[in-house]
Amino acid sequence: MRSHLFFSISIDPSRPSKIPISYPPSPFVSGHHRGNSSNLQLQIPSNTHTKNHSFHFILPRLTVKAIARAISAPAPEAATMVKAIRVHELGGPEVLKWEDVEIGEPKEGEIRVKNKAIGLNFIDVYFRKGVYKASTMPFTPGVEAAGVVTAVGPGLTGRKVGDVVAYAGNPMGSYAEEQILSADRVVPLPPSLDPIVAASVILKGMTAHMLVRRCFKVEPGHTVLVHAAAGGVGSLLCQWANALGATVIGTVSTTEKAAQAKEDGCHHVIMYKEEDFVSRVNEITSGKGVDVVYDSVGKDTFQGSLDCLKPRGYMVSFGQSSGMPDPLPLTALAAKSLFLTRASMFSYTTTRDELLEAAGEVFSNIGSGVLRIRVNHKYPLSQAAQAHEDLESRKTSGSVVLIPDGIFEQEISAPDNVFI
Ligand SMILES: NC(=O)c1ccc[n+]([C@@H]2O[C@H](COP(=O)([O-])OP(=O)(O)OC[C@H]3O[C@@H](n4cnc5c(N)ncnc54)[C@H](OP(=O)(O)O)[C@@H]3O)[C@@H](O)[C@H]2O)c1
Repeated sequence: MRSHLFFSISIDPSRPSKIPISYPPSPFVSGHHRGNSSNLQLQIPSNTHTKNHSFHFILPRLTVKAIARAISAPAPEAATMVKAIRVHELGGPEVLKWEDVEIGEPKEGEIRVKNKAIGLNFIDVYFRKGVYKASTMPFTPGVEAAGVVTAVGPGLTGRKVGDVVAYAGNPMGSYAEEQILSADRVVPLPPSLDPIVAASVILKGMTAHMLVRRCFKVEPGHTVLVHAAAGGVGSLLCQWANALGATVIGTVSTTEKAAQAKEDGCHHVIMYKEEDFVSRVNEITSGKGVDVVYDSVGKDTFQGSLDCLKPRGYMVSFGQSSGMPDPLPLTALAAKSLFLTRASMFSYTTTRDELLEAAGEVFSNIGSGVLRIRVNHKYPLSQAAQAHEDLESRKTSGSVVLIPDGIFEQEISAPDNVFI
């Protein structure tokens, strides 16, 4: 049983006035501005009978029309409460708390999506620790999910309840049973694509797309070095670079990960905790060096990665799972005239066209078999802390997904490795 009812009234800033509203005086609990302050939300206990009462409440700037609409509307729906992971303070995995949150209704241009699965990403760790700063505190982490549309905002066309969609990026908040999203940031899923697989690949796949198709266009004859080759992004990156005709060298930490990287198209695998990867790359390329390094490990590999590059090679830094690399003087690039970029998938999918193109290439590569998706680990959403701990301690390979607890029960009988 909900304890309160909410109703909203629009405000017209251009028409200040003092207007009586027929609503009971005593049970009124609160009224406050929300969001962009174009709405006023009032709250009353849900057992309150609203008939035969009246009170005068001074609401500056309310239009008569808006008031009439508010008081003639049927009793409004109660606020939607969902379970979500919340972060109230920065820190280790233990700061991920399982809580009830209110998500409200979608506004203009927005949709509400019931998540079927949520992709876990290293970026979630950065936000949890404060390496990247969240725009609010507390916050709900998560930037990758797939699910079903359960409500659309007023006047929205092109999306409807029941659509299956995936999203990657802003706003952060996918560690939740349901979330509100901007309709133009989601992509429709091909019917053949399982939403759990989609949630595990939409962000990571578009990152791989950015790396091999846009930052440095991989072509036949290129030699590429991929660190963390058995990771979520790494697995996709190796498969994609191989399919484009490159010789792929991957680094990994364990023999199990080495076996996976080979299956994913690495022609050479280096165990970078045991071997000096710079010397090994030198051997493999007969001293020529590689055309491009895709480096997401950061601190532990950055300098070595530069050493692996051939003259005029491309250093593509896109993450720092081992920590931030040390600052680099520009002159360090001079000896080999190297190119350096610190790339973010978010700035390669800013327009709707870019988003659809990137997602479209990922989906078509899955459809054609170029990308085989490894969902190697599934956790109930409530156990996100355990998932973070495993990701950070390098225990995971391929993609990791969080599944809302109710759905997880049904999924648990499915095989652990989804390999399509
Ligand atoms: N720029 C972007 O737009 C973008 C988008 C998505 C992801 N990323 C970055 O891509 C990287 C991979 O992300 P992911 O979510 O797919 O994670 P992931 O690769 O599945 O996991 C991280 C991997 O990094 C390796 N690693 C090396 N040193 C590590 C250390 N000290 N601590 C933890 N891991 C270490 C581990 O592989 P080994 O055990 O084999 O060493 C680990 O499995 C991250 O750095 C992430 O920030 C960037």
